[in-house]
Amino acid sequence: MTTQTLTVDLGDRTYPITIQSGALTSAQVWSPLVADRQVMIVTNETLGQLLLPRFLECIESLAVPPKKMKHVLLPDGEQYKTLDTLNLIFDALLEQRFDRRCLIIALGGGVVGDMAGFAAACYQRGVEFVQVPTTLLSQVDSSVGGKTGVNHPLGKNMIGAFYQPQAVIIDTDVLSSLPPRELSAGLAEVIKYGLIADASFLLWLEEHMEGLMACNTQLLADAIYRSCQIKAQVVAADEREGGIRAILNLGHTYGHAIESAQGYGVWLHGEAVGAGMVMACELSQRLGWITEADSERAKKLIMRAGLPVEPPKNMTQDEFQAGMSVDKKVLDGQLRLVLLRSIGQAVVTADFDVAQLEVQLSELG
Ligand code: GLY
Repeated sequence: MTTQTLTVDLGDRTYPITIQSGALTSAQVWSPLVADRQVMIVTNETLGQLLLPRFLECIESLAVPPKKMKHVLLPDGEQYKTLDTLNLIFDALLEQRFDRRCLIIALGGGVVGDMAGFAAACYQRGVEFVQVPTTLLSQVDSSVGGKTGVNHPLGKNMIGAFYQPQAVIIDTDVLSSLPPRELSAGLAEVIKYGLIADASFLLWLEEHMEGLMACNTQLLADAIYRSCQIKAQVVAADEREGGIRAILNLGHTYGHAIESAQGYGVWLHGEAVGAGMVMACELSQRLGWITEADSERAKKLIMRAGLPVEPPKNMTQDEFQAGMSVDKKVLDGQLRLVLLRSIGQAVVTADFDVAQLEVQLSELG
């Protein structure tokens, strides 16, 4: 398999995304990033056993190794994406006297990436960092585009910063040890790109879903490439989510409500997004924007990816309304949703009949 490279075009904050089998232990990839500087690797307890030893071995054996290399292990899970956990990174950086020329490497999924990125944004008012996403979800979504932060008990990702990495390094080999539930969660975000921006990619996903679920490496690499390409284009057009970038949140307003009502970590983010996308398509259908056939088509593909297509049975209308009202897309108290105008074309809008949303939520359970 070849190396594929994409660029996130952001002026002086432009950076490459490298997609390569074996990238995690490639001297060619790492030499220019870590040579002769202080390096702090942020990872979690699970990956500390699974991937960290061979990554450390690779970096230590470089012709010009880092000046100093340390690592910090965070507890594993969305429920730990908090300000308290973030402090573990600051503690490690300060105890080791890391200066502002240091590099932080985020080795992990979305939780590690969001927290390491936020730590990089804040430590000494900003140090460089590299994303090494190790789940499908983080490879196709959270590692690209510079969203960093932590959750607050009252809302997901409510404390954070836009802060771009120096590079995103995606090693497709690490997916071979990904639990099936995590693979499905990542496929939710992959399907999202087809629904919001590329009808022919959605068709390709329909043709190849079995192969993707069976972890076919080439198919996964192709899906990652197209997903990152779409994400890079959207981020380049609207880095700080003044407008179009919000389409990347199809299903997320419903999904975040599910995640916070169930307790962070009970449903994986991608699972909540899967059920949330079905609900967003269903509302688009209720509004007469897409056909029932389109809505069913989306639901069927999400189901084939092993994802839930209904919200949790115990979740009430009030819980949905409360969760959806703290979404970052709420402006001046007005809820804006990402909805479909057609397969492959999403809009973010407050201009919809809210009564239809209320009917949809009242029919739950
Ligand atoms: N995950 C959505 C975004 O990065 O904007």
